[in-house]
Amino acid sequence: MLVKESKQLTRDVFALTLEGQFDYDKVTAGRFVHVLIEDGKAHPLRRPISIASCDSHAKTLTLVYRVVGDGTLWLSKRIRGDTVSLLGPLGKGFVAPHKPGKVLIVGGGVGVPPLFQLAKELVQENFELDIVLGFRSQGDVFWTEEFAQFGRVTVCTEDGSLGEKGFVTAVIDVTNDWTTLYSCGPKAMLKALRNHFAGSTIQGYVSLEERMACGVGACWGCTCLDPSGSLAKRICKEGPVFSWEEVSL
Ligand SMILES: Cc1cc2nc3c(=O)[nH]c(=O)nc-3n(C[C@H](O)[C@H](O)[C@H](O)COP(=O)(O)OP(=O)(O)OC[C@H]3O[C@@H](n4cnc5c(N)ncnc54)[C@H](O)[C@@H]3O)c2cc1C
Ligand code: FES
Repeated sequence: MLVKESKQLTRDVFALTLEGQFDYDKVTAGRFVHVLIEDGKAHPLRRPISIASCDSHAKTLTLVYRVVGDGTLWLSKRIRGDTVSLLGPLGKGFVAPHKPGKVLIVGGGVGVPPLFQLAKELVQENFELDIVLGFRSQGDVFWTEEFAQFGRVTVCTEDGSLGEKGFVTAVIDVTNDWTTLYSCGPKAMLKALRNHFAGSTIQGYVSLEERMACGVGACWGCTCLDPSGSLAKRICKEGPVFSWEEVSL
């Protein structure tokens, strides 16, 4: 696909909008693309990045990623008109709530992007959203205004430099009547959320991450375990989205 725009959102987070031919009909929130780095010679393994936003009419796809190594650094240097090769959409995305009612969305750091496409899809289905976004510090915060078009947004920073001080769980009242919780972010956050809602009837979904090789279920290099610790699940194939009873966090 062709680079339409690359925008720096924070010190190390970029939004890359690509345009052109893609299997837009198969995009659902939570699915990801496998990105070829350069021509694949120096970096034979593609890099998985979630679809942050998709517009099938404009034929554009937006990825939001943090620069952590060579692959994402290369991506951050792409400019308008460059070509980026993608495989996808891959994996299993978020499923719609099983019942009507209010929905809670919780994102942490670069776990926030896939929840944008989710919020967009849920609002189109008339769900009412509460959105909690957690970041380390003010300088790491991005897309909070973009999320505000979909629901009530609460921002938390660990050092209190913007929004509420502390972790996301500090501002989430478990007695609220949300039917469903969707979350993506660091594993510690996902685990804390599940513990926070222990005993509640809320249906929780988590999007997990693992280093990936094939991205299509062939190599078993990206597994997580079920709660009993005995059954492996491939994050690229059975996930990355799981209901939180399905996996060990
Ligand atoms: C399904 C899925 C969706 C993802 N979506 C996004 C997204 O939307 N935005 C985003 O910023 N990142 C996302 N990631 C993480 C992203 O794939 C990695 O950050 C990226 O592959 C790093 O590539 P690199 O070449 O820059 O770094 P590398 O040189 O490969 O690695 C640099 C450092 O990052 C660590 N690292 C690499 N991959 C991961 C990983 N998956 N989990 C934890 N640590 C890792 C390495 O151990 C190393 O320390 C996603 C991962 C998965 C599995
Ligand atoms: S990366 Fe190969 S099975 Fe998931």
